[in-house]
Amino acid sequence: MNKNILSIFVVLILIQLCFASVSVNTCDSTSLIYTADLKNTTEWEHYWEGCVGSGHAWLGTRQDWRDALKTAVDKLGFERIRFHGIFDDDMNVYQEAADGTPIYSYYNVDQVYDYILSLGVRPIVELSFMPTAMASGNTTIFHYRGNITPPKNYTLWADMIENFLQHLIDRYTMDEVKKWHFEVWNEPNCGFWTGNMTEYYHLLQVTFNAIKSVSTEFSVGGPATCQSQYLAETLQFTQENNFTLDFVSTHEYPTDIQPVQRNIMYQVLSNSRAIVGPDMPLFYTEYNDGLYSPGLHDTTFASAFAIFNIIDVYGIADIFSWWTFSDVFEEQGQQSVPFNQGFGLQTIYGIPKPSFKAFELLHETGYERAYVDGPDHPTAGVLVTKGDSEIMVIVYNHNIPGAPITNETVCITINNVPANVNSATLRRIDDENCNPIAIWTQMGSPTYPSQDQIDEIYDSAQFVYEDIDYKYLSLNTLSFEIIIPPQGVAAIKLEY
Ligand SMILES: *[C@@H]1O[C@H](CO)[C@@H](O)[C@H](O)[C@H]1NC(C)=O
Ligand SMILES: *[C@@H]1O[C@H](CO)[C@@H](O)[C@H](O)[C@H]1NC(C)=O
Ligand SMILES: *[C@@H]1O[C@H](CO)[C@@H](O)[C@H](O)[C@H]1NC(C)=O
Ligand SMILES: *[C@@H]1O[C@H](CO)[C@@H](O)[C@H](O)[C@H]1NC(C)=O
Ligand SMILES: *[C@@H]1O[C@H](CO)[C@@H](O)[C@H](O)[C@H]1NC(C)=O
Ligand SMILES: *[C@@H]1O[C@H](CO)[C@@H](O)[C@H](O)[C@H]1NC(C)=O
Repeated sequence: MNKNILSIFVVLILIQLCFASVSVNTCDSTSLIYTADLKNTTEWEHYWEGCVGSGHAWLGTRQDWRDALKTAVDKLGFERIRFHGIFDDDMNVYQEAADGTPIYSYYNVDQVYDYILSLGVRPIVELSFMPTAMASGNTTIFHYRGNITPPKNYTLWADMIENFLQHLIDRYTMDEVKKWHFEVWNEPNCGFWTGNMTEYYHLLQVTFNAIKSVSTEFSVGGPATCQSQYLAETLQFTQENNFTLDFVSTHEYPTDIQPVQRNIMYQVLSNSRAIVGPDMPLFYTEYNDGLYSPGLHDTTFASAFAIFNIIDVYGIADIFSWWTFSDVFEEQGQQSVPFNQGFGLQTIYGIPKPSFKAFELLHETGYERAYVDGPDHPTAGVLVTKGDSEIMVIVYNHNIPGAPITNETVCITINNVPANVNSATLRRIDDENCNPIAIWTQMGSPTYPSQDQIDEIYDSAQFVYEDIDYKYLSLNTLSFEIIIPPQGVAAIKLEY
């Protein structure tokens, strides 16, 4: 055999070997196989960043609240914030002189809105609760005693609303304030209003007219109900009374409907969308992974819940506002235990919970979503997005409490991937990763951790970057496999 022929044989054998090692599917036989196509994409709008909830207005004067908001805005990209109580007595917006003349005062309001706007964030203003001086009764809610009775005189309420709007224009300009939203009250059907719904509709109409009398450009909505209720009734009322809301708002917690179902948020939001129609902006101004029970907000259940649902309900609501960004929160009085299953994405002391890390991963996703072909699995799922120089793959494994869930091996193949991927990192949120409550529990659950302990808990909450083995199956097809534990989230970032 001459030398040339020999070398041709060697090359042929090498090519053979090469293809043998890469063209065979690298997936484990038991894995769930997903195939993404980066040439078949749709828009991936970061709608969940449109707003986040907070404890009541007065907290906006506190440094720990401000620090936590700045962190949430910087790392999670929130554009708006909503909280109760801008008219509560602690804000001191309304008093009356001895002869009954209204005395308006906005210094506290300005302190809060000035700070929010300095971060580039706008409020969704929840117009609540009743200043004691204007109230028709003494019933209050929460530790901070928001008065939940109707006004003693609706003219006084309307005058205050007009004066408040005029003050906002004077301080922040019409151009700015017309980009805000004004929501009338909070959960009139769930213990936040001593009147009935008929009386709430009256408040809605009076408030709507007061705001529109200042400028028709302002955005006004309601009914801010709990449990997605009274949407049809509200629209019927506005229709009969010849006015049109700028948005319809409501709330849903997955525990509102028992027994809990895994896709209950999708079911409920779809139903609400059908009621309000395709064109009416639909604002979910509150949701979380549950209300009070079973109390999983500090756990990895919340992170898996957030990822699964934010993907699942895509395209239905215009605002989907997680309640809340911080456990600096006073509805039951400020809690001192750092992990108290509060609603916040961050604990007191600013420790990011697993839910916070989930929102951090979502914030890093690109604005194009790749079509993913694969099994419609009862717990696992995959999101693939594309940005300017990176591909984000988010894998989750989620089920409702007590339902079957196990480790899943997931094999992902990405077609039409750039040929020059040069870095691949893996980050996880699960019982072993970004799970600060575990370290705190190991410490003996200290109510008042030392600064050293806080630092250690904080560190345990951060992402650990691991390398991930990926293979090019061909020039533009890449594949890798990971195991994802129960209530786990994993993010693979491919940079090119
Ligand atoms: C609130 O309670 C005080 C003390 O009981 C009473 O004097 C007052 O009339 C009440 N106010 C209203 C608006 O009911
Ligand atoms: C309500 O307040 C307005 C404005 O101060 C006043 O003119 C009116 O008389 C009040 N109505 C009642 C019933 O007190
Ligand atoms: C609502 O309350 C008003 C009194 O504030 C009463 O006149 C009306 O009948 C009530 N409506 C319903 C449906 O209960
Ligand atoms: C609403 O408008 C219609 C048509 O202009 C009118 O007949 C009706 O009386 C109005 N209803 C109310 C409550 O103002
Ligand atoms: C492209 O994606 C859409 C969903 O966005 C899907 O319905 C369609 O089947 C995909 N086309 C191909 C060729 O995979
Ligand atoms: C998942 O895998 C881990 C690590 O191998 C193992 O410790 C754990 O028991 C498994 N869990 C389940 C629910 O199978």
